[in-house]
Amino acid sequence: MNQSETPLLQAVTELIETNPAYFRIPGHRLDKGVSPRWTDKVGTAIFAYDVTETPLTDDLHSPEGAIGEAQRLLGELYGADQSFFLVNGSTCGNEAMIISAALEGERIMVARNAHKSAMMGLILSGAEPVYVMPEVIDDWAVQGEITAESVRKGFEENPDCKALFLVSPSYYGVSSDLEKIAEICHAYGALLLVDEAHGGHVYFHDRLPAGALEAGADVCVQSMHKVTGALTQSSVLHIKHHGVGEAALDRIAQNLHLVQSTSPSYLLMTSLDCARYELAANGIKMMEKALYLAEYARERIHKIAGFRCMEGERLDRTRIVISAGSIGLTGYALEKILFEEYAVNMELSDYENVLAIVTYANEIEDMDRLAAACAEISRRYVGQDTLQRKNSCSSFPMLPQQVMTPRKAYFSDIETVCWQDAVGRIAGQMIAPYPPGIPVIYPGEQISQAVWDYIECFRREGRHIHGAGSNGQLDWVKVIASRRVV
Ligand SMILES: Cc1ncc(COP(=O)(O)O)c(C=O)c1O
Repeated sequence: MNQSETPLLQAVTELIETNPAYFRIPGHRLDKGVSPRWTDKVGTAIFAYDVTETPLTDDLHSPEGAIGEAQRLLGELYGADQSFFLVNGSTCGNEAMIISAALEGERIMVARNAHKSAMMGLILSGAEPVYVMPEVIDDWAVQGEITAESVRKGFEENPDCKALFLVSPSYYGVSSDLEKIAEICHAYGALLLVDEAHGGHVYFHDRLPAGALEAGADVCVQSMHKVTGALTQSSVLHIKHHGVGEAALDRIAQNLHLVQSTSPSYLLMTSLDCARYELAANGIKMMEKALYLAEYARERIHKIAGFRCMEGERLDRTRIVISAGSIGLTGYALEKILFEEYAVNMELSDYENVLAIVTYANEIEDMDRLAAACAEISRRYVGQDTLQRKNSCSSFPMLPQQVMTPRKAYFSDIETVCWQDAVGRIAGQMIAPYPPGIPVIYPGEQISQAVWDYIECFRREGRHIHGAGSNGQLDWVKVIASRRVV
């Protein structure tokens, strides 16, 4: 195939060039009907590309023309047997993977550091999750890889699991040994489903961890908007057949209809077409630049008193995890200072660290600003001892006590209880500190004292919690109604 083509971009351009009298959706009529308040800021050109299904522009839900061609080019680039554009983010891809792999009455192994979209997939599917816990990188209070040993043990104890779902690389850039894990999954006739939301770029440089498809995964999902030039929400799903779970793989295309809009955005899809083209043409150079920039900043930050950057094996080194814990700053405090006083925007913070995502589109000035801000913060805070760290938010809760499946709990009768009275109750909702949006509690789990203490720490600090009430505070929590508990 010719990777220098962008068939969807070309098809939409052809449509625009016919200068149509336009009676379709969307109502803004290419670019004329968008509020001038908006076009004054952003211009008009882009809006002409916000079109819909026509004989020229194909149909995402039945791709036979330009979209089909663009998806095949994507598949060829990544070495997939079949690839799909996703317009509802990796969220919908994760849901589709899970509902295709395991249904009500079946079991699926799920890494416990999975993004909340995995839990949503479990609610939709009704499958019973069996959890595998990630390692914890103690020094950094960060959840690490899912080890092959823990996966093997998981399958020895639960050989009927239809699939393993895990995240690799993680938000923090920690990847798992997917090659070994794929072998184990396939030996048990199970699919390896990888949430590679943060790893669409790793295929393009040998100093980045191996990509899931290269390592033997059966399905993976990538948020192209997180790591390439595609627009927000633009993601992809790839399938590669290894002779297991064929019926499940066949269900994926069908199930994507369940979780995707019937009005997919052509802006998002053309952005995917063009992002794929750039990676094909310049992927190695792009990753070379991102790696160079990240190493440059890492080296400077390492030398700053009180600051350190995470190192380790199988890390995506375009992610920089920075801690200033030794000078008394939590990651939360550091992120706030960087944002408010230096206009340096980090991706996220946790109790210990802040995280920078470095891409090819960053420039050396960005890295200089980050390093210079850290250096100045170091000068201000070293030896000050002004901020007391409580050190209780950083230990992760252990394996949860699942009483019923997430789906059963989600659709059960629930009642609302005061958060202070929640210990011992069975959750009717998820609770996930955000970011990174990893649920600490799934619906159907008993809220143990240890889990309560862990969440309470986030709550007391006023952290953003998904699943909290409309005021963002976890004053109340939905639990399974008492009469339903057996
Ligand atoms: C590991 C992981 N998976 C999936 C998602 C969801 O991706 P998207 O925002 O593309 O829907 C996220 C979002 O941050 C994530 O971190």
